[in-house]
Amino acid sequence: MIKRLSNKRILLGVTGGIAAYKSAEICRRLQDEGAEIRTAMTSAAQKFITPLTLQALSRNPVHLDLLDAQTESAMGHIEVARWADLILIAPASADFISRLAQGRSDDLLTAICLAADCKVVVAPSMNRSMWEKKATQNNMGEIQNRKIDILNPGEGDQACGEIGVGRLMEVGNIVNSLSEMFETHSLSGKNVVVTAGPTREAIDPIRYISNHSSGKQGYAIAEAAMEAGAAVTLISGPTNLPVPARVEIVNVGSADEMLEKTLNIIERTDIFISVAAVADFKVESPALSKIKKTGELKLSLELSKTPDILLEISKLKNGRKPFTVGFAAETENLIKNAEKKLREKDLDLIVANNVGDPTIGFDSDLNEVTVLGHELNKSFPKSSKKTLARNLIAFIAERCLESIAYG
Ligand code: PMT
Repeated sequence: MIKRLSNKRILLGVTGGIAAYKSAEICRRLQDEGAEIRTAMTSAAQKFITPLTLQALSRNPVHLDLLDAQTESAMGHIEVARWADLILIAPASADFISRLAQGRSDDLLTAICLAADCKVVVAPSMNRSMWEKKATQNNMGEIQNRKIDILNPGEGDQACGEIGVGRLMEVGNIVNSLSEMFETHSLSGKNVVVTAGPTREAIDPIRYISNHSSGKQGYAIAEAAMEAGAAVTLISGPTNLPVPARVEIVNVGSADEMLEKTLNIIERTDIFISVAAVADFKVESPALSKIKKTGELKLSLELSKTPDILLEISKLKNGRKPFTVGFAAETENLIKNAEKKLREKDLDLIVANNVGDPTIGFDSDLNEVTVLGHELNKSFPKSSKKTLARNLIAFIAERCLESIAYG
């Protein structure tokens, strides 16, 4: 069975209301779909259900306080906000919704929501009369305007004895709704090829030239494209990452092999995204057996250029060239150098990545980039590579459709 939320990191925020007990079930059902769960509780929520319950179910400590010296140095509100692919507040009380609408950040959960760049989803639960009040409805309107998603409450018997609208959405429907939110359909019917990871260029049978690419950014982009409805092939150099569900993997070693595998499928590719850190040089003639240490203090290797895969693809003619997106890994003159690659490689878009900053780029879980196109420049702030990947795919999908529409 396909787990619809595999590899997804969900922060479950619980606020004070009788439906707080249902958060335990939500946690379990989300885990059944493959999600990794962390939880945060307001102080009112802790009067209805103990943190121990959520800690045991989520198998992670529960985030409780904004100004907790211990968690702030480990996984404080900014870290948690960056960690999450999606934040679900369930149940969300009238008071919490009002605080969210005001943009407050004086408790942990509101601070996490304010710091988050990922999708925030609110599942209200309250007495029907509180739900109907203009104040609550105005607050709901306000948070919807800010693109916070609402899982509307249901109608029926309420714990307070009344009947009306205000019951927390059924747990199964919450899980279904979250699963659907990851599927955007913006690339439905498209074939996407993503290259990722490093390449390895042999020196001898046991040694090679390579780089620090972990594949995280490329794998996240492949997964985001799949969630957007594309048929995705991931051509990957050696990494330690699990292959995203429903993505076809082609494993390669060297740049030559990556070129060959890419050319094999490029004819039926609509979008090519070159995230791989392809080695620029290879050893001209790798030794056939292990190079032995001798008395010599130096060893010379003759290097030659590897094929530029991205350039080969962008040179394709007669309608065979897909919408082509490159990455530019730079340590200086980021924008200028990226613009040069955009022009010289005749790309549709280039993603400028400052790999001189050790908190982003190679092997980090975070990234921050600027996308350049012809008369186009858009920055994407620092976020997890997965969140960034979803935002990049949404942007690439729009630009690709535009380019088809206007030729
Ligand atoms: O894998 P991670 O640890 O998550 O790190 C992500 C990343 C830093 C590797 C990624 O975000 C990134 O910046 N990838 C591009 C790496 C790179 O090789 O950049 P470049 O500026 O040297 O190359 C420009 C473009 O040409 C790239 O799209 C590259 O894939 C492509 N290229 C380069 C050389 C070559 N021989 N063939 C190519 O296709």
